[in-house]
Amino acid sequence: MKLTARRAFVTGADRGLGLGFARSLLKRGFTVYAGTYMDHWHEFELLKEEFPSGLVPVSLDVSSMDSVRAAFQTTADHTDSIDLLINNAGILTDDGDIRQGLDLSKAAAAFGVNSLGPMRMVQTFLPLMQSGMKRLCFVSSEAGSISVCMRDRGPFTYCMSKTALNMAVRMTADALMPRGFTFRLYHPGWLKTWMEGEKNLRATVEAEDSAEAGIDYFLKDLDVEARLEVVDNQGVVWPF
Ligand SMILES: NC(=O)c1ccc[n+]([C@@H]2O[C@H](COP(=O)([O-])OP(=O)(O)OC[C@H]3O[C@@H](n4cnc5c(N)ncnc54)[C@H](OP(=O)(O)O)[C@@H]3O)[C@@H](O)[C@H]2O)c1
Repeated sequence: MKLTARRAFVTGADRGLGLGFARSLLKRGFTVYAGTYMDHWHEFELLKEEFPSGLVPVSLDVSSMDSVRAAFQTTADHTDSIDLLINNAGILTDDGDIRQGLDLSKAAAAFGVNSLGPMRMVQTFLPLMQSGMKRLCFVSSEAGSISVCMRDRGPFTYCMSKTALNMAVRMTADALMPRGFTFRLYHPGWLKTWMEGEKNLRATVEAEDSAEAGIDYFLKDLDVEARLEVVDNQGVVWPF
């Protein structure tokens, strides 16, 4: 397919991978509707200065249906079509160890943002995606793979929430592929981002590098669109 897409929405675009996605798309000539969750983040402000008209901040909390509806209205006031929806916003929950007792107090938040947030976005934004590229993208994680699970503690409900996301995307794809929608599931690698509250310098992948690889994957047409896979920043396929 010839690339005609020029408008994208990115959730969780204040910082980390989402900001990297926004920057990569802007450099490629897209208008980016950037879901902003934070009141202020200096790197986002700098990007806005660099792309004053291309970057459109849209206040968004994906865990709230009211917020998602308001974000849709703000976006619809600017444009009648979005080519690409990138569901990136996510939170990490570290629930501990089941042998000592899990702290499940943040479990609902993990599912509310990581699994249900993308579903709120898709169903609300569909009216803006009836033409154009019709591509729905989701940032998942190796942490959601059941068959390659390598943990027995730690972010229990984070992992569970990404597995639930994968199933939600599977079902959404089955429902919407016949209407011409295409899907991308992405594992970005272990990122030097802010999921743990402060920048994780122990991680191995720069957000900007993973964002570039992710956007390449999101924009590329595949030989077989019907095969839904989780692909990482190196192009490796992770089993569900
Ligand atoms: N970091 C990794 O190693 C890694 C690995 C695999 C997958 N991922 C996935 O990659 C995605 C991006 O993560 P990241 O590493 O870039 O994390 P990040 O640096 O924490 O960025 C995530 C952004 O989303 C925002 N956000 C939080 N709750 C939100 C909500 N309810 N609605 C909208 N936005 C919200 C965050 O705001 P606050 O900072 O204020 O919370 C932040 O701006 C997530 O889906 C994550 O699960 C990350």
